Amino acid sequence: MRLFLAPMEGLADAVMRDVLTRLGGIDLCVAEFVRVTHHLLSERVLLRTVPELANGGCTPAGVPVRLQLLGSDPVCLAENAAQAAELGAPGIDLNFGCPAPTVNRHGGGAVLLAEPERIHAIVAAARRAVPEGVPVTAKMRLGLEDTSLALDCARAIEAGGADELTVHARTRADRYRPPARWEWLARIREEVALPLVANGDVWTPGDWEKIRQVSGCGDVMIGRGLIIRPDLARRIKSGGEPMPWRELLPVVEAYYALVRARVDPRHAPGRLKQWLGMLASAYPEAEELHRRLRAERDAEELARRLRE
Ligand SMILES: Cc1cc2nc3c(=O)[nH]c(=O)nc-3n(C[C@H](O)[C@H](O)[C@H](O)COP(=O)(O)O)c2cc1C
Repeated sequence: MRLFLAPMEGLADAVMRDVLTRLGGIDLCVAEFVRVTHHLLSERVLLRTVPELANGGCTPAGVPVRLQLLGSDPVCLAENAAQAAELGAPGIDLNFGCPAPTVNRHGGGAVLLAEPERIHAIVAAARRAVPEGVPVTAKMRLGLEDTSLALDCARAIEAGGADELTVHARTRADRYRPPARWEWLARIREEVALPLVANGDVWTPGDWEKIRQVSGCGDVMIGRGLIIRPDLARRIKSGGEPMPWRELLPVVEAYYALVRARVDPRHAPGRLKQWLGMLASAYPEAEELHRRLRAERDAEELARRLRE
């Protein structure tokens, strides 16, 4: 029974992974996608997205971080997967789910779900290129407009030799509209033998129980639920009451200090406000703080007012 932190571009970067994994309960993270076009990405580019590579591939709390690649060319993806493994990534994940139009226009992400043969070629090439001890995994949605190719895609990923498959139980057309189609996870589990990780709309420990029941999957990946309730993984594992705001506020302050150390001061305030805005759906105090700080644009001044 493992709990994964989902890759979330623009939301769960190395700083957020650091803060969340310190709180406990998360067994593994998948980093936000790195886009592969026509060439071998430099070490600098890979380290920018996954600075954990310089720390043995783990967050400071010791939780492994898989590196996710997004692209459509099997040869190029395989070369980059080998390079990432060489740099110490503890696993390579392949993205077959991103719905962003800019990404899909270039043939990457969810648009590949219309082409199970290409998915197979990508997984097989990456698996061949990466040393055996390093897992090559995949993450998919259920399809583009409908679920008609969901099973074919899952079979293609298995036949390509993937070590594990995470399924976000929605099509691209579903975007993020609830509810996620957990029953599809059970159908996929009947079709393929490779380990399946269930994903989509787990917001509470009760949801975690339900998705496991409906899907039959032991392992669950959580994205937005962990941003909104940072102690969710710990509570799922150990029970207990939700973390009160007075305990969470120092975590938010520590997050912002780390953001300011890593991010351009022009962008740092936006990152804090983004998190506070999301926390507001679970914590009224975060909503109040968000309202108070919304207009502040200066990174240092924001840090001062956060401590007030
Ligand atoms: C802001 C945002 C960025 C995302 N970026 C990625 C990404 O880089 N790679 C990926 O495979 N999925 C990405 N996803 C999808 C999530 O990993 C996850 O599948 C989805 O949010 C459903 O899980 P949840 O309901 O627990 O959030 C992203 C989702 C969000 C909301």
